[in-house]
Parts: sequence; C-alpha cells; structure tokens
Amino acid sequence: IQSQDGWRVDYDQTGVCAAKGSRVVIFYNYTHPPGIDPSDIKDRFWFTKEKDGEPVDLRTDSEYSGRVKYECYSEKYTGSPGVTLSVTGLQVQVRRSDSTWLELTCHSSCVLSDDPEYDWYKNEEIIKTGSSLLVSSGSTDRYSCYLRGYWDHGSPAVYGPQRPSVSVSPSAEMLEGDSVTLTCSADANPAANYTWYKEHEDSPRASGQIFTITDFTAEHSGNYYCEAQNEMGRSNS
Ligand SMILES: *[C@@H]1O[C@H](CO)[C@@H](O)[C@H](O)[C@H]1NC(C)=O
Ligand SMILES: *[C@@H]1O[C@H](CO)[C@@H](O)[C@H](O)[C@H]1NC(C)=O
Repeated sequence: IQSQDGWRVDYDQTGVCAAKGSRVVIFYNYTHPPGIDPSDIKDRFWFTKEKDGEPVDLRTDSEYSGRVKYECYSEKYTGSPGVTLSVTGLQVQVRRSDSTWLELTCHSSCVLSDDPEYDWYKNEEIIKTGSSLLVSSGSTDRYSCYLRGYWDHGSPAVYGPQRPSVSVSPSAEMLEGDSVTLTCSADANPAANYTWYKEHEDSPRASGQIFTITDFTAEHSGNYYCEAQNEMGRSNS
C-alpha cells in the first residue's frame, strides 16, 4: 500500500497456502520517503498481533520462537493489510470409479503453490507419485499421501473396515420378554457405517452401530452378524 508520505510495502503475494510442517518464504520490498536516510531505519519485522498498541515482533512471540528467520537488506510503517498465511493438512478423498476401482486424491484445504508433488504410501511403502491413485475396493491396506519432502506430515491413512467385533449386553442367556443390545465396531477410516443381519436372511434387520432387540421371543433366536462399510470396502463380523 502506498501511503501519502512516501512509505510503501510490496509483498510478492497476498495469500500463501502452506502445508503443515513445511517452510514458507514471504518476500517484500519497502520504499521510504526520499528524505529518509536508509541507515536511520532502525528495524524491520513481521507481526501478527499488537500489544499495548505496538506490533509484536514475531521473533519475540513465544508461538513463533525458533520458527522465524528474517533475511533483510524501520521509522515505523506497516504495509497493510499484509499477507494471509493459511496452513493446511493433507486429506485423502475417496471416489468410487467403478465396481472394482476407487480413485484416491490428495487434497489440501487451500491451493498449494508451485504444483506440489505427492507421494502415495500403501502401508509403510511408497508406491506411486502423483495427485491421485487407483486402488481396488475391499482391501484393508492403509493409503496415505505425502507432500514430497515433508515426510512427517502425511495425510491420515484411509482404509476399509477391519473385521468388526460385536459385544452383547447383557451377555447372559435371554429369557422371553427380555431385551438385548448388540454393539458392532470396526476400525476404519473414513468411519464405517453398520448394518445388521440375521443369518440366512437377505434383508437387513437394522442399521446403525447399536442394534436392540426388545421383548425377546423364541423366534428371535439365531445368529446375528453385522457388516461394517465405508467408501473403501466392507467387512462382516
Ligand atoms: C522487489 O524489487 C525487485 C527489484 O525491483 C523485484 O524484482 C521484486 O519482484 C520485488 N519484490 C516484491 C515482493 O515486490
Ligand atoms: C454406508 O456407506 C456407504 C458408502 O460408504 C453407502 O453406500 C451406504 O449407503 C451406507 N449405508 C448406510 C446404511 O448408511
């Protein structure tokens, strides 16, 4: 911004999208009024907040300690409104491509500059480079994406449901007229949804993690199982 009195700060960009854990360099130039001797400029610094009406140098801000470095070539003048820095984590999105294949894409909540390169991991192993990955559905392998060069900040892994476990409450033998609650849970990401079946029946008895049978009668007797499903696949207890 150009102020009346000849001060001015130019930034190379007004918004920066940065992946968690990465390093950001923000460039600026400033101009001072012709009457000022550059050696009279005492200080130049970045700030995000003010204390007692004075801007707080990021280098003295505890949230930033050890994380900010200036490379400079200050009167007091602020180039407003400054630069907005957005920090994003990576997220894998899953889209069904056809009955067998799923397309995984690596997403950030803001647009990363410089055409980022992604690496894909299956379990602990790197398998591909690029912004998307085709995998077959129904596997419980764990897939995650990383920004090239930032190995410690990958996306959370996505994976199909592991074999669900079922708990029964109360666990004692049922009498007619009692009620019983079955709870199904399976490790999965994204979180699984649940469907309940009685053995030898095609249509489900219930959906949801908890299945309650009230007013138990003899015809409720039998084997029940649950199915956990997410975008990656399904698995039965
Ligand atoms: C700063 O000035 C140099 C030289 O004029 C120019 O190349 C550069 O793009 C400027 N940078 C910014 C952030 O304005
Ligand atoms: C469970 O999620 C899958 C997709 O992951 C969806 O196709 C299905 O309709 C859902 N089922 C229920 C009962 O919500």
